[in-house]
Amino acid sequence: MSSLASKQGPRYRQTAGEEEPYETIGVEKLTPVIGAEISGVDLASTLSNRTMDEIHRALAENLVIFFRDQHITPQQHLAFGRQFGELHIHPAAPHEPGEPALMKIYADKDSPRVNGEGWHSDVSCDEEPPMGSILQIKQCPPSGGDTLFANMYAAYDALSDRMKTYLHGLTALHDGEPAYRGLYANYGVADRPSYPHAEHPVVRTHPVTGKKALYVNSGFTRHINGIPRDESDAILGYLYRHMENPLFQCRFRWTENAIAFWDNRCAQHRALWDYWPHTRSGTRVTVKGERPV
Ligand code: SIN
Repeated sequence: MSSLASKQGPRYRQTAGEEEPYETIGVEKLTPVIGAEISGVDLASTLSNRTMDEIHRALAENLVIFFRDQHITPQQHLAFGRQFGELHIHPAAPHEPGEPALMKIYADKDSPRVNGEGWHSDVSCDEEPPMGSILQIKQCPPSGGDTLFANMYAAYDALSDRMKTYLHGLTALHDGEPAYRGLYANYGVADRPSYPHAEHPVVRTHPVTGKKALYVNSGFTRHINGIPRDESDAILGYLYRHMENPLFQCRFRWTENAIAFWDNRCAQHRALWDYWPHTRSGTRVTVKGERPV
């Protein structure tokens, strides 16, 4: 029996509410908990206000949405991102020439590592971490290279009431220094003198949905403030194991020119590097967010 199961069924249950139909887009859920594939949208065209509203809604309801077969230019990729807010410039990663907001995602047989191999929320070390990331993969390996996504509302909801009470009001340090220093040397990127760090609540409230989400991740969170370091290590270790439960996840199988758009405020993701020596490449546009509360 799963550790989240009991005689009453799973401790985390997605309530299947009555859903308003979408009018201008198709939305097919990957799992009841996270992820949906969107159809009927060509991101190379001008989207109506109604379609944009429905994309916002699909993202809020599903945390990560996927669009297949999108033949867009770099400028259209950037323009789509700008419809959701100002664009974020990554503090460390390489970008396309002349386009600092177009981050490169690339791995081949000579890569020493790939982006995003551990569970994380993008650049959570920023004072105002990104709200969302829009990744297009243009070259896929013959198989593998999937991305996993996990629902942090679900992870929070499934905690015991005692653990929720314990975490209430705690903050944690998110540090880019150990995550980024030297990381992109193989792309010829020189290190900056310093990388961002910030303190954020361990549980944040999403500004759009008003729901609570766990907001610590193994990529950036170093310790919980105000408690002994060994206690922080134990609590973070527990939370990382807890949030990795497959009950909270979906797994996206990429096809060429597919796009994934995830909400970093309530979802974490992890890229799988199971395709060496093949090449996987694409670009990511990231949208600025707000200070977590
Ligand atoms: C990332 O943005 O963390 C990389 C995700 C991926 O390559 O699937």
